[in-house]
Amino acid sequence: MVFLDCFTTEAQEQPVEITPVNKDTFSDWLTSQSGQLANWVKKTGFYAEPGKSLILPPEDGGKPLGVLLGTVGKNDIWSWGEAAEHLASATYSIGGKPNDTDLDNATLGWALGSYAFNRYRQSKKTVSKLAVAASPTLTAISNTAQAVYLTRDLINTPASDMGPGELAACAKDTADRFNAVCKVITGNDLLRDNYPMVHAVGRASTRAPRLIDITWGKPDRPKVTLVGKGVCFDTGGLDLKPSSGMLMMKKDMGGAAHALGLGQLIMANRLNIRLRILIPAVENSVSGDAFRPMDVLKTRDGMSVEIGNTDAEGRLILGDALTEASAEKPDIVINFATLTGAARIALGPDLAVMFSNNDTLAKDIEVGADQCDDPVWRLPLWKPYRRFLDSKIADINNAGQSRFAGAITAALFLEEFVGDNIAWAHFDIYGWNPIKRIGRSVGGEAMGLRAVYAMLEKKYSK
Ligand code: BES
Ligand code: ZN
Ligand code: ZN
Repeated sequence: MVFLDCFTTEAQEQPVEITPVNKDTFSDWLTSQSGQLANWVKKTGFYAEPGKSLILPPEDGGKPLGVLLGTVGKNDIWSWGEAAEHLASATYSIGGKPNDTDLDNATLGWALGSYAFNRYRQSKKTVSKLAVAASPTLTAISNTAQAVYLTRDLINTPASDMGPGELAACAKDTADRFNAVCKVITGNDLLRDNYPMVHAVGRASTRAPRLIDITWGKPDRPKVTLVGKGVCFDTGGLDLKPSSGMLMMKKDMGGAAHALGLGQLIMANRLNIRLRILIPAVENSVSGDAFRPMDVLKTRDGMSVEIGNTDAEGRLILGDALTEASAEKPDIVINFATLTGAARIALGPDLAVMFSNNDTLAKDIEVGADQCDDPVWRLPLWKPYRRFLDSKIADINNAGQSRFAGAITAALFLEEFVGDNIAWAHFDIYGWNPIKRIGRSVGGEAMGLRAVYAMLEKKYSK
């Protein structure tokens, strides 16, 4: 069994032990030490701040006595990530009193903090290793970490190397590793196969739009379908974004990255479901062939959509994908999308905004979120705001004039394409850490992925 680089199951050398301490346990730890060491620690100013570590100096110039790590307590994940990221390259082990640390959380945090995006330059640091015992739990933790790594890698890769074609190739590669079937509809074939909105949004780019369709698992199992917004770069289209708004738009395929990362995790842990992943992959570009403000588009579902703003493109491509997802009446449909700036204004970058037409599903995801420290916050599908999307000439407008409640109106637009009686949750995520957080660097980030997985695992693990 091969585990991640950041773990060793057969440490060659005696690992350096990391002792977690928090504001409550730190003074107990100090009193249990020799006066000399306790005094030395006090003088360093270390006070068990979460994520901060202190190397305890060796008595004889040899190996450190150990490391003290400030944590927020037993269930902490991220302080362990911070330790993995910042401690000098060596092999470490988890110490302290057994009841003070949830080993699984600490191990996962270590793995998540060990991530670095090294595609374009050599890492300056050798990955530190955590000495752990091989076990099925370690496999599960590695699977979770690898799902998050995949999501981050896909988001971090610039649009020049992550267009619709490259995204489809990554999807195919993920599908192949689990013997899943991956079908891709490309370019004008989208018109033949009735994905008019995916085609319209993507047709201006020299890199053809695509609909990626992965299926895995026996057809008689409960059906769960994941849908992800795969806008590989969002210029805004003819309603061009200003440069400040365009800067980050390589990450506009973050929803697709989440769908693939979560899909990989489901397949790796062999959940008892029939999984489908649908990703409309496009580049929202500018050219003579671009779709225009006030165009009226046909949809897969038959509705007509007036274009109020070409920058509200995510909901268009997701609309066609949600129609296709609904056609086979799955038990659950979950979509992820970097859909609106309004969701970020409302809740900031750290919280995954969730909408759902089903209270039980929403509750189950919220329970999952709490369990694994992957926060989500539900906003309402407030039906009266559907009026903001009224069009004078078509069934619906994709943006409307009002700037009120932008995340809600986007969610209401999507809901139009979800079939009746299908439990559906929509995540409007940022997919990015704009500033460094404990255990997490700046860059692509999975948000809500582990929460949804926790819900699915509870329902569908064998
Ligand atoms: N991809 C953006 C939303 C976005 C912007 C997500 C910044 C994260 C950070 C989306 O396609 C978009 O531009 N939405 C518009 C919709 C508006 C024109 C109705 C928005 O949110 O401003
Ligand atoms: Zn846009
Ligand atoms: Zn977008």
